[in-house]
Amino acid sequence: MKTAVISATGLWTPPHSISNEELVKSYNAWADSWNVAYAAEIGAGTVDPKTHSSVEFIEKASGIKSRFVIDKEGIIDPETMAPRIDERPNDQISVMAEMAVLAARDALERAGRKPEDIDAVICAASNMQRAYPAMAVEIQNALGCGGFAFDMNVACSSATFGIQTAADFIRSGSARSVLMVNPEICSGHLNFTDRDSHFIFGDVATAVLVEEESIAPAGHWKILGTKLKTEFSNNIRNNFGFLNRAAPEGIGAPDKLFMQEGRKVFREVVPMVANMIAEHLGELGLQGSDLRRMWLHQANANMNRLIASKVLGHEATEDESPTVLDTYANTSSAGSIIAFHKHSGDLKPGEKGLICSFGAGYSAGSVFVEKTA
Ligand code: COA
Repeated sequence: MKTAVISATGLWTPPHSISNEELVKSYNAWADSWNVAYAAEIGAGTVDPKTHSSVEFIEKASGIKSRFVIDKEGIIDPETMAPRIDERPNDQISVMAEMAVLAARDALERAGRKPEDIDAVICAASNMQRAYPAMAVEIQNALGCGGFAFDMNVACSSATFGIQTAADFIRSGSARSVLMVNPEICSGHLNFTDRDSHFIFGDVATAVLVEEESIAPAGHWKILGTKLKTEFSNNIRNNFGFLNRAAPEGIGAPDKLFMQEGRKVFREVVPMVANMIAEHLGELGLQGSDLRRMWLHQANANMNRLIASKVLGHEATEDESPTVLDTYANTSSAGSIIAFHKHSGDLKPGEKGLICSFGAGYSAGSVFVEKTA
């Protein structure tokens, strides 16, 4: 069996950022006008008034301070409360493919790899912008890669599921160089009129180049093991699909956008992930203390604190479990890859770490890696 490694990663960050203050201001303005519009029903006691969102709550409950987005104006316009992303004609590259290509080029450049060296492209993300042709095939074409390409969606766990899929292609010999990309336009499926979740997500694209060890550049990351787990739950759900269209305007059809029972997710996913990591450590003959760093899924800072302390046996420092959630918010599958991309350069040969994601499904994935010389 061949050994799979991570040769390089890439990142594309959108140019616009929205602070909690800006987001809360637009939500509160929207809530005030909603209350005026429904004053009669509120007065009659048939509907509850909307209460204000708060910057302090958001930061304390989640750790999020701001988020990057593709379109800022539409989101913070109380009349729209959704990103305005123009539909593009079929002969123009799709938005999702465009951002994936930018992250992919970053990864290819870092590995000194040309697009024609790639045997397979996997687009692994929470929401594809269309049914077909697969986003991955458009990305493959835009980059000029050969081989084959396909999409996969395991929500926030898409990247770790994508890494294992790529690693399995390498291990079995069906590919030697696999580009796995995670373009996440989370703002497109977030309900900015839902006080409980309007602050959660941001947009970004990441890329991971998974290759056979013999062709990988120096300083790559050996993949020591991958493990995936799913367990059905309705606590994080999005009913958008071609059988049930969302309302044409951003506001409305709330069940065709992201919905969650955040408290239940917190309570149920923390033990599921901590147990999976413990099991996987055992299978690889490792202990928490063997880990130099954990690059965890970026959904909630308190959740990561709990998971990291269960694995390490002590409260993790920012150095042991870095956060990117404060500036990027939850970027679904891309979160743990952003953390790895930005906070792995200082690890020395022989040092080990864990890339771990979790989210809707429920789904969770762990990828243990070791830095090489
Ligand atoms: N501003 C002010 N107050 C708010 C608010 C907002 N934007 N949103 C909710 N609140 C209020 C609630 O109304 C509630 O008030 P009450 O106690 O008077 O009823 C209180 O704050 C607590 O709300 P709750 O939803 O229980 O907060 P929480 O501490 O669980 O934090 C999340 C919410 C979403 C940040 C947290 O549950 C979480 O991150 N869960 C995991 C999410 C996750 O990983 N999802 C995966 C997505 S891929």
